[in-house]
Amino acid sequence: MSRLTLTQRILGVILVIQLALLVALAAASLRNLRAEVGAELAAGVDTARSLVLATIGTLQTAVPPDRLMATLPERLIAPGDATITILDAREPVARQAQAAGTSPQSAPAWFARLIAPEPQETRLPVVIDQRMLGFVIIAPDASALIASAWGDIRRIVGLTAMAALLQGLLILWLTRRALHPVETISARLTELTQSQLDARVGPLPQPDLAPISRRVDQLAEALEQARTERERLQRQVVARADQERKSIARDLHDEMGPCLFGLRVEAEALRNSSDAPQIRDHADAITAIADQISRVNRALLDDLRPVPVGQLPLATVLTGHVEDLATRFPGHDIRMAVPPGIEEPDEATALTLFRILQEGITNALRHADARAIRVTLATDPAHWIMTVQDDGKGMAPGTAQGTGLSGMGERIALLAGRLDIRSDRTGTTLIAQLPRKPRP
Ligand SMILES: Nc1ncnc2c1ncn2[C@@H]1O[C@H](COP(=O)(O)OP(=O)(O)OP(=O)(O)O)[C@@H](O)[C@H]1O
Ligand SMILES: [Mg+2]
Repeated sequence: MSRLTLTQRILGVILVIQLALLVALAAASLRNLRAEVGAELAAGVDTARSLVLATIGTLQTAVPPDRLMATLPERLIAPGDATITILDAREPVARQAQAAGTSPQSAPAWFARLIAPEPQETRLPVVIDQRMLGFVIIAPDASALIASAWGDIRRIVGLTAMAALLQGLLILWLTRRALHPVETISARLTELTQSQLDARVGPLPQPDLAPISRRVDQLAEALEQARTERERLQRQVVARADQERKSIARDLHDEMGPCLFGLRVEAEALRNSSDAPQIRDHADAITAIADQISRVNRALLDDLRPVPVGQLPLATVLTGHVEDLATRFPGHDIRMAVPPGIEEPDEATALTLFRILQEGITNALRHADARAIRVTLATDPAHWIMTVQDDGKGMAPGTAQGTGLSGMGERIALLAGRLDIRSDRTGTTLIAQLPRKPRP
């Protein structure tokens, strides 16, 4: 039962009730029909009996007794509900009185058995002047009654079946119409599960379903707000982290720079203060270590904060970085395309786009054996779209992401963006989409 649809259940219940009603109606009608047929047959037999007695009474005076039995069949006309048979005592043949009317179409035998009572014949002896002339046998004949009842029953059953069919079709149409909005609600819920949080059912005219559609729309509203709030918080996290990195970079620059400078000056002073080669060697070693720390510091600063991002237009920073790489790796054809006059993104987005470019090109150089590396930056109404494409050997199937790609994915996700990586034996393409404007 639970596998049936609501429409099928409603139709099933109605069908069962109608069948039960039909059976009850048929049982009651059959009982009435039996009684009616019984009463009409008894009346028919009575009429036939009176007719026979009246005819014999008339003939008694009109024809001699010897011819009476022979004349009877011609004079008697049996009523429709009875047969009259005349048995002449002098002849072994039974003769039938004529029947009134034509014999109607017959009903099936099972139906006749259901409503016809047991036939009981009445035998009337014909005695005149104490002479036994023969018998008149009157038997009920239910065939006309049964045929007419069968016709009535067929009409009633036909009409009832047609009414049931019409009712079923009407209910089917009504339930389909009434349940149509359920499909709409289900489609909107599917869209919601696919993150299309602007999907709404809208007001429904059906009073049963209107509260559900309202709740679904409220739920969608709440989900959309939650997503907006989450994206706002994520942007805040990214912005805070960027600020933090900026501040660490500043500290590193401001604190380490003077210290290293002091160290170099002191080492130089030490070197100049003595002619002893050992001391000069130590002083040179200190200078070399200071240079090493300075290089590490520079690399850390670059990593923490690529200096020009946020200070120069993003297109200039990206193109400059690509040109720099192209010069450093002359064996590769590294190019970048940015449409002129492209809008300037916020700092968190700019930094993320720079990191994607940096990591994408580094990966292509390190892992892909690529010759050509193409980077594009474009916009659509809602997104910044950056692609980094190489013509290398592609990622081996099942390659796990390292810190580079997973860090890139995390940062893009924090800005509510999307990263697609397509890779086959003809190369790898990264497609990153970042929202242009945070949702209101
Ligand atoms: N363009 C590419 N072509 C072929 N393989 C690639 C490419 N980019 C990444 N891979 C494969 O994916 C792996 C993961 O890359 P990912 O950048 O996450 O880590 P990594 O480059 O190995 O290390 P790092 O953390 O320094 O970036 C790489 O080790 C490499 O096997
Ligand atoms: Mg990498």
